[in-house]
Amino acid sequence: MTNRTVVVSNRVAPIDEGRTAAGGLAVAVLAALRRSGGIWFGWSGEVVASPGETVHLTERGRLATATVDLGEDDYEAYYNGFANATLWPLFHYRVDLVDFDRANYAGYRRVNAHFARKLAGLLGPDDLIWVHDYHLIPLGEELRRLGIGNRIGFFLHTPLPPRELLATLPMHRELMRCLAFFDLVGVQTERDRVRLCGYLAGEADALLEERDGGASVRAFGREFRVEAHPIGIDAAHVERSAAGTANIRDVERLRVSLADRRLIVGVDRLDYSKGLPQRFDAFAHLLRARPGNRNRVSLMQIAPPTRGGVAEYSEIRRTLDTLAGHVNGEFADVDWVPIRYLNRSFSRRTLFGFLRLARVGLVTPLRDGMNLVAMEYLASQPPDDPGALVLSRFAGAAQYLPDALIVNPYDVEGVAEAIQAALAMPLGERRERWERSMRVLRSNSVEAWYERFLARLAGG
Ligand code: ADP
Ligand code: F6P
Repeated sequence: MTNRTVVVSNRVAPIDEGRTAAGGLAVAVLAALRRSGGIWFGWSGEVVASPGETVHLTERGRLATATVDLGEDDYEAYYNGFANATLWPLFHYRVDLVDFDRANYAGYRRVNAHFARKLAGLLGPDDLIWVHDYHLIPLGEELRRLGIGNRIGFFLHTPLPPRELLATLPMHRELMRCLAFFDLVGVQTERDRVRLCGYLAGEADALLEERDGGASVRAFGREFRVEAHPIGIDAAHVERSAAGTANIRDVERLRVSLADRRLIVGVDRLDYSKGLPQRFDAFAHLLRARPGNRNRVSLMQIAPPTRGGVAEYSEIRRTLDTLAGHVNGEFADVDWVPIRYLNRSFSRRTLFGFLRLARVGLVTPLRDGMNLVAMEYLASQPPDDPGALVLSRFAGAAQYLPDALIVNPYDVEGVAEAIQAALAMPLGERRERWERSMRVLRSNSVEAWYERFLARLAGG
């Protein structure tokens, strides 16, 4: 087979219908790959005592997955360690949380080299290889070392911090040099692109030429492109799915339980980057400052736990348990609980049904590459009576959705005011804002994102 697309990412979503994986990358890549067909290579999600050399192969129509297990030490050093205790906080501007451990970096490099060896055995000479996210920055270099001459692209789903923050990483030059082994490096927003170019110019003496909507870069003795390619959702699919959710049992139960109260909804992996404590504080402030909302509005926060092996994630979970308990203790009534806090996953259709019932979508990350939930909230709304989106200015999505109520998530009082404004917004204004936002979402589907990136990669 020629010109296959080979997607590589740490997390590989289950490709069977009906099973879901929380996380923007898995959701987006699955939506695109289902249509185009191709191979998806990555971690199986299994941690085993002795991983061996097996590659697990699954095929569903034109889509195949090839996955490898991780050994316990590699899982600790690579996934819990360098990927999620070093790069994740660093890329989300949380230098205070970064674990600077060289042994973890060695594990990260070891797993990347292992992935490259396993992947190389599956590749044909014309395959287009597309590597995703911070777990696999060195994969291009490792593949080149094995003699792979194919075109290889890389896309970073997270934000990219400014040069001064990146430079706090002891091995920042070695890590960023890996980017030069890709042909095309994609980021979510123009601001991330400018920051990456700023790093390359300032720390690597790169020669940059701005052309064709991106930068051609000469650095580290190589040439490559840096471009912004904002990810999207399959808006038409979400609209259709959400419209048919009224009979789903959990959606119906939620609707009945609300009676005539208004719903505010949040859906996020339980991650410190999502600003959940500040969000709960903002909601408590709303109830304090505007008592008319008591017993009139409920916040439902869905937050499935992730990365439980990383200490900061257990800590944020404890913080939120306590905070939700305090807010509910202070304001709950015999027939009303202000915060419904659910640490679990739901099917995507059920989630869309929940989003559709909510008058306010609350998406207030402290920092986010893009944020698909903001888009899914909009696409789930009933067109004749859409709700309003309150969106953090620090989510990449804010750069594309100016018709949301844009907030500073650290400003608890400001977020409370924006929620109040969203609750009070007249139907005419809600519809106008929603229609303008939907035009943006419909014109940048996940498929368009996927095809645009691959076309740029293939085009040379
Ligand atoms: P991130 O990639 O940081 O997790 P995004 O908002 O970009 O953030 O993407 C999250 C994706 O995961 C969305 O498509 C969302 O619908 C999905 N998701 C989040 N929480 C759940 C959940 N509890 N059950 C099912 N899917 C979820
Ligand atoms: O889109 C951001 C992202 O970090 C993906 O890279 C990741 O797969 C996902 O969110 C969920 O995290 P995890 O794979 O660690 O469960």
